[in-house]
Amino acid sequence: MSKVVKATPTFAETMVSWQKTHGRNHLPWQNTQDPYRVWLSEIMLQQTQVTTVLGYYAKFLAHFPTVAELAAAPQDQVMGLWSGLGYYSRARNLHQCAQDVMTRFGGVFPQTAQELMTLPGIGRSTAAAVASFCFSERVAIMDGNVKRVLTRFWAYEADLSVSQNEKTLWEKAEAALPSRQLKTAMPRYSQALMDLGATLCLPRKPNCPSCPVRGECKAYALGSPEKFPVKTRKLKRSSEVLWLLLALNKKGEVWLEKRPATGIWASLYSLPVFESEEALKKALSFKELKKTRKLSEEPEWTLLPTFKHVLTHKDLHCHVMKVMLNQAPQTPAQGAWWAQNDWKVLGLPTPIRHLLSNSL
Ligand code: ADE
Repeated sequence: MSKVVKATPTFAETMVSWQKTHGRNHLPWQNTQDPYRVWLSEIMLQQTQVTTVLGYYAKFLAHFPTVAELAAAPQDQVMGLWSGLGYYSRARNLHQCAQDVMTRFGGVFPQTAQELMTLPGIGRSTAAAVASFCFSERVAIMDGNVKRVLTRFWAYEADLSVSQNEKTLWEKAEAALPSRQLKTAMPRYSQALMDLGATLCLPRKPNCPSCPVRGECKAYALGSPEKFPVKTRKLKRSSEVLWLLLALNKKGEVWLEKRPATGIWASLYSLPVFESEEALKKALSFKELKKTRKLSEEPEWTLLPTFKHVLTHKDLHCHVMKVMLNQAPQTPAQGAWWAQNDWKVLGLPTPIRHLLSNSL
């Protein structure tokens, strides 16, 4: 009698089996192959945790059930709904991408990663996620979680801040993709990598005993999974001082301006931003300040406590001057007085929203 020897499952096969029983299978963007829904989730998940994304995802789909409806929406509405998710270039690109899908692709998302990558806000990994989830294309994803999983599995110690090393990792990731039953295996494999990275193969305290591939994991064998990935070039951080004008009129309305399309808080509404106290004061004509002086001769402006807001590349040190005004401040940008019920639904940077909520 001949013995049937089963081949050892490949990395991809083990991952796929593990995902079925131990992965996340009930997230609202799963169990659909609609590229609009998958794309929307992937953009939101780029820099934001699943728990935060859930509410925003439902809200976006309720307002814009199709890519056509998103494309046709005013930018302010899109920014308003995105408000609080951060990294607002994602929202601007999202809107532009929807419009490009309408104009360049007749309202139908392209089906290959290569074409998806030509759309705004869709990089190589996001394109691969959409193409593998929706069209079972055999392409590799490579977000932060996936880099961690793969560099550990191979104990890949080359510095990923060197682009050639990152390129090599992509090539290794491509070679490790499933090679059979791609229709079902590809979506599950992509999800497996994400799920392992998010639930077990954690940055500081990986749960190796529960890992399905620990037997072949080189970093586990070395006893040092936390050392991977290796990335030496640290993000260059800078800091900037901003002066914010919190101008209120007698009706309790606040003066807000729409930010330019580039730079800090691009395309969001904000208090007027100045680079110095002098520049801010110039926007308040002396006449106006005099008019609003109290009997005590104290001008009606107060310096609120300075706060620091941390962005990815920058610390913003924000000084806030609160002033009562009877007329519009003299700033170069277009602005308007906004009542609370109206500014609440605007796309505002999170620190500005907090400031308004706490000081009005
Ligand atoms: N992060 C990025 N894509 C994801 C997905 N499809 N499910 C869970 N987390 C993710």
